[in-house]
Amino acid sequence: MSLDQPAGRQPDHPVAPQFPGRWSPRSFTDRALSEAEVMSLLEAARWAPSASNHQPWRLVWALRGEAAFEAIFACLTGNNPLWAGKAAVLFAVVSKDTVTNREGAEARNRTAGFDTGAAWMSLALQAEAMGLAAHAMGGFDVDRLAAAIHLPEGHTLHCVVAVGEQGSADALPDALREREKPSGRKPLEEIARRGRL
Ligand SMILES: Cc1cc2nc3c(=O)[nH]c(=O)nc-3n(C[C@H](O)[C@H](O)[C@H](O)COP(=O)(O)O)c2cc1C
Repeated sequence: MSLDQPAGRQPDHPVAPQFPGRWSPRSFTDRALSEAEVMSLLEAARWAPSASNHQPWRLVWALRGEAAFEAIFACLTGNNPLWAGKAAVLFAVVSKDTVTNREGAEARNRTAGFDTGAAWMSLALQAEAMGLAAHAMGGFDVDRLAAAIHLPEGHTLHCVVAVGEQGSADALPDALREREKPSGRKPLEEIARRGRL
């Protein structure tokens, strides 16, 4: 295991370094992202696995400076507006929750949320591989964001993801500076059991 993992991110067992290496900072530099870089992030999400290969994830994205970025940003709540406006790109992560069955009717896709979670994590790990940071946010006004991105019926909004180049903690407002460090994890015994929970 790499010795240069951030403090508190030392795994108990050997693991590929991108897992403890990824974390969710709130400070971003001014560096803009090119459309090509955004395509690489989306491409990683595209290759996530899904039940019956339905690929239920849908991603709405906008670069900082665009009206659509402001529209997504305006829906953030809690502390999120204090930092996420400096991200280079915002993604609204959505799942399409139905599939067309053999009879031509729309049937619920029970794993749409699960599959979409895999897509977001692929995007986050791609960001890390590109020297960028990704930070998911569940803190947003659901109805407002649904309207802003024209969310169709039968879809669920899961989160907004901010991506950019990580900046200095010193650039954050006081309330957030202290919290700008990677978090630890529950012990493995608490989340995984052999044979039964
Ligand atoms: C679905 C989801 C919603 C989250 N919502 C927020 C949020 O609204 N604001 C925030 O600052 N962080 C949010 N986070 C980030 C988590 O707090 C963070 O992932 C968690 O503390 C683990 O830290 P790490 O990502 O640095 O390993 C969210 C993460 C996920 C996956």
